[in-house]
Amino acid sequence: MDLLRIEKNVIDLCAEVGNFIRNESFHFDRSRIEQKDTFSNLVSYVDKESERKLVSSLKKILPGAGILGEEGTDTKSENEYLWIIDPLDGTTNFLHGVPIFAISVALMRNDKPVLGVVYEVSHKECFHAIESGKAYCNEKEIRVSAISSLEESLLATGFPYYHTEKKDQYLDIIKTFLEKTHGIRRLGSAAIDLAYVACGRLEGFFEYDLKAWDVAGGAFILQQAGGKVTDFKGADNFLYGGELCASGNIHKEMLGIIQEKWFREG
Ligand code: IPD
Ligand code: CA
Ligand code: CA
Repeated sequence: MDLLRIEKNVIDLCAEVGNFIRNESFHFDRSRIEQKDTFSNLVSYVDKESERKLVSSLKKILPGAGILGEEGTDTKSENEYLWIIDPLDGTTNFLHGVPIFAISVALMRNDKPVLGVVYEVSHKECFHAIESGKAYCNEKEIRVSAISSLEESLLATGFPYYHTEKKDQYLDIIKTFLEKTHGIRRLGSAAIDLAYVACGRLEGFFEYDLKAWDVAGGAFILQQAGGKVTDFKGADNFLYGGELCASGNIHKEMLGIIQEKWFREG
């Protein structure tokens, strides 16, 4: 298994599909927005076409690997490998002309990540890492921020579409972080949030109700850049468990606040 060769192929593929997404963004017609299950869960032909292009090439890059994609791809693995892909992370931004969106690709071997690529389309920034290697933004090695106090930190989060029964607890977490940090950003792409923690632009990121395709690529890149990713309990179930807390060097402080608010009664 030549992971370096596979990584190179995936980077080239993301650049090519990224060109398609960028070109569509220049003349996107909002009448082509489609609703999935609710008025705020949106999609368009761009997400679907991007997934089609990724799937068709990934099948050639690693024959027999399964593929799980946000827009409906669910191909069983014939070996120990599984791709987890989000063909366009930041769909709502894309549809509204806000230029913050990415392609996210992860390769799992026996449920453990071995490759991650997050391609930020507008700036052509490709964040990537492979097993036993460092993390990079294009050719430059990246590391998480060395900042270890909340007071000097910039965080990111997202606002979930569902499970609003936890919204009071969530807003409490946000309120506390607002009082204790440099601020909180809502970029609108979990993949980019994670990549930005990986390269030290942000010190931390937290969100709930995320899916595996939102986080698989970015979480692995962040880990290879020296960061930490857990669920809200501080355990490993962030890929399929929905809750995610990611940071460079402020994990204990972030989790302390999240746990106090999130797990309280009522
Ligand atoms: C969304 C983005 C967003 C996050 C949502 C995700 P999509 O993915 O990652 O930042 O807050 O929970 O669903 O729908 O743009 O692929
Ligand atoms: Ca997504
Ligand atoms: Ca998506």
